[in-house]
Amino acid sequence: MKDYIGEVINNREIAKDAYLLEMSFDKLPPIKGGQFAMLEVPRDDCILCRPLGVCMADETYAAFLYQLKGKGTHALTTLEKGDELRVVMPLGNGFPIGKYENVAIIGGGFGVVPLYLTAAECGGNARIYNGFATKKQILLGKEFDGVGKLTVCTDDGSAGFCGFPTAALEKDMADGYKPDAIFCCGPEPLMKAVKRMGEAKNIPTYLSLEARMGCGVGACLTCTCKADGHNKRVCKDGPVFSGKEVYQ
Ligand SMILES: Cc1cc2nc3c(=O)[nH]c(=O)nc-3n(C[C@H](O)[C@H](O)[C@H](O)COP(=O)(O)OP(=O)(O)OC[C@H]3O[C@@H](n4cnc5c(N)ncnc54)[C@H](O)[C@@H]3O)c2cc1C
Ligand code: FES
Repeated sequence: MKDYIGEVINNREIAKDAYLLEMSFDKLPPIKGGQFAMLEVPRDDCILCRPLGVCMADETYAAFLYQLKGKGTHALTTLEKGDELRVVMPLGNGFPIGKYENVAIIGGGFGVVPLYLTAAECGGNARIYNGFATKKQILLGKEFDGVGKLTVCTDDGSAGFCGFPTAALEKDMADGYKPDAIFCCGPEPLMKAVKRMGEAKNIPTYLSLEARMGCGVGACLTCTCKADGHNKRVCKDGPVFSGKEVYQ
């Protein structure tokens, strides 16, 4: 983990309140799917950096996809081509890519962000189930289609599979698909459903947790969660935890 100064290549709204920030760097270390970054906020009264999943990356490039929420993300939307920004990364553990051959990846809403790199690193083997409330909220449809077998799901049936991504995976499993593990990032109800599904079907699950963060590097304890009955830091011990450890 290190501080990098990057230059903004592009920062544009790709869906309602969803911004893709692309940046170039001199040289980045390898970044694992599920790791995140702390981005400096270009606003004087925002001292704390904001955590964002690394969506895409190579040796000199990183892309972040963020939802407009409060003053930090609003300030990020003001970044323009050529602006410089300090980014601390890669942070956290990431998903255990390489440990399993056939991975089912489940994302919900902005939870799909760290799963793009995760799916790409699975080498085209992963089946991806990304769920959104409605067609207008679909993120990175084309991009995900290129890195695995994608099923887009919408709650209202306006595109793709009608229903939750867990239901789409259940359907494929009823047809004979058996993943070795399930990786998930999304809203808490989705991750709890994935944990239950894994337990019922005896499939290991890995869940990427979210918490309010101060430092992002394990020093301030703002992001503490309970895992296996102990206090753990989402930023340093996670954000990816085994489903067995959390939501007990
Ligand atoms: C490891 C990690 C990875 C993340 N990756 C992404 C990502 O790839 N894309 C993305 O859009 N968002 C991501 N988030 C959430 C993102 O960090 C927050 O939305 C952002 O910090 C809000 O900052 P703000 O100043 O705009 O909002 P604030 O003014 O701080 O808060 C506005 C609203 O957002 C909520 N909020 C603030 N921080 C969080 C948080 N950490 N989790 C949930 N809700 C929060 C607040 O409760 C409040 O309602 C991630 C969070 C973590 C911990
Ligand atoms: S955010 Fe400071 S310890 Fe996790």
